[in-house]
Order: sequence, then structure tokens, then C-alpha cells
Amino acid sequence: MESNHSETAGLPGAGKRMCIVGASGKLGRYMVQHALDRGYEVVGVCREQSVPKLADFGDRITVIGGATDDRAVIARAVEGCDAVLTVLVPWGVHGYASGTAQAVLDQARPDARLVFSCGWHISRDGRDVYTWRFKALVAVLTKAARLVRVVDVDDQVEACRRIFASDARWTVVRGSDLEEGPSEGLPVWSRHIGDPVLASNRTRRVDFALFMVEAVTDDALVQEAPAIVGRLTPSALAHARR
Ligand SMILES: NC(=O)c1ccc[n+]([C@@H]2O[C@H](COP(=O)([O-])OP(=O)(O)OC[C@H]3O[C@@H](n4cnc5c(N)ncnc54)[C@H](OP(=O)(O)O)[C@@H]3O)[C@@H](O)[C@H]2O)c1
Repeated sequence: MESNHSETAGLPGAGKRMCIVGASGKLGRYMVQHALDRGYEVVGVCREQSVPKLADFGDRITVIGGATDDRAVIARAVEGCDAVLTVLVPWGVHGYASGTAQAVLDQARPDARLVFSCGWHISRDGRDVYTWRFKALVAVLTKAARLVRVVDVDDQVEACRRIFASDARWTVVRGSDLEEGPSEGLPVWSRHIGDPVLASNRTRRVDFALFMVEAVTDDALVQEAPAIVGRLTPSALAHARR
């Protein structure tokens, strides 16, 4: 990996190393780009078969191929990192998301900023208020996914339970429904689903990634589980006018 200090001087990530776990996915690749734009030295982790999906970044990042719940892979990847951004995905039925979260929690530097992604269905304190439609959708998807043994939604819940119980400097970013498209800027957030500001339930994926990267330097988000929504959505704009 090439690191040109004169090019990154003055940027928030200058001289800092960021690990992105799940770097080859849609969210992950946006996060890699935002991190590079901010001058971070980037280490990306993804499955071996997905390493070519990061070829566009060339030698600007270091790529470590392997399962993200493999503790040896994560130990190597997070070494010396000031921040670790993790895409939590509950693939399979063998604790992939919780294994990934645990490997990061156990092996990142104790002072590292840890930022995890998940969906609105995760609740930290049980004070989120969901529509009946949302609850029904999550219940159906959870059951259907478990039946075909492709995804175990409850494992993402378990992963977050472990993160919430940890003393680390974590943030769990809860994404709304996602869409592609150009950036609208940093999403707005609330502590609880049900807050009218979130009603539009839509965020550009590129901005979800932006929120994840910017959270690293925002101490107000340490040990918070912000639920986000696009800043140009009707509900966010209505809130801004108040
Ligand atoms: N999609 C939504 O509408 C939505 C809504 C709210 C929140 N979120 C959250 O946003 C984050 C990213 O979600 P996304 O939907 O945008 O997906 P994504 O960025 O494409 O990420 C999917 C990740 O899962 C990995 N993956 C795919 N198949 C796998 C398998 N069989 N075994 C292990 N890993 C596998 C991918 O790696 P490869 O590159 O190796 O395939 C990639 O890292 C997640 O935390 C999700 O909970 C998503």
C-alpha cells in the first residue's frame, strides 16, 4: 500500500489507520472511498472470492482475504488500527455476525473507535416504536430466512447485544431502507425509531457509508445507536424547518 503523507496532511485521517470489515460489499466499498478521501490508511477485509471486487482501489488499500468471523483474520486486520468499521451481516446459521462482532470487540485496540452497521430492527433499549407493517415484515423475513438457512436475523440481534454490553468505544449505526444515488450529505439521526424525523425511512447507501466514517471522529456518538435517515428526505426537511 502506498502512503504519501504530504498528500494527506491536514485531512482528518492523516497518519491514522482504519480497518473496514466487509469492505467488498456495496456499503463497504463506499466506506473505503470515504476513508481514502479523508486520508486514512485503509485495511479492508472480505471473503477470498470477493477480493477482486476491490481491484479498483489498486495499491491504495491493503486487502486481507478471509471470513470476517475468523479470529486470526481479524487479529491481523485490526492490528494498529485507530478505527474499525464493520458491516454486520447475519449470513448462514452459524453465528457469522456475532462471531464477527466478537472477534472485533476482543482484538481491536482498547482505545479504537468501533463502528458497526445494522438495520432499524435492532433496538438498544426497547424504546423504539415500530409500525405494525415494519414489525410484520421483520417477523416474516426472520422466519423465512431461518427456514431456508441462508440468513439468521436473530444473529445480528445477538451481535448487537454483545456490542451494547461492551465497554469499548463503539457506535452501532442503524440504517433505514437504502437506495442508490448521489450523496445528499450526512444523514440525520435519532436515538429512537418512531421519532417523526425518521418517518421517510430512506437513506442513500453512499450516505450511510459517510455516516459510518464520520462517526469515527464524532465523540458524541460513542456508545450510541443512532438510527439514520437521508438529510433531504421529507421527514428530515420538515424537522429542520421546526
Ligand atoms: N439492504 C438494506 O436495505 C439495508 C437496510 C438497512 C440496513 N442495512 C444494513 O446495511 C449493511 C449493508 O447491507 P447491504 O444490504 O447494503 O449489503 P452489502 O453492502 O452489499 O453487504 C453485504 C455483505 O455481506 C457479504 N456477504 C454476502 N454473501 C455472503 C455470504 N454468503 N457469506 C458471508 N458474507 C457474505 C458481502 O461480502 P462479499 O462482497 O464477499 O459478497 C458484504 O460484505 C448491513 O449491516 C445491513 O444490516 C441494509
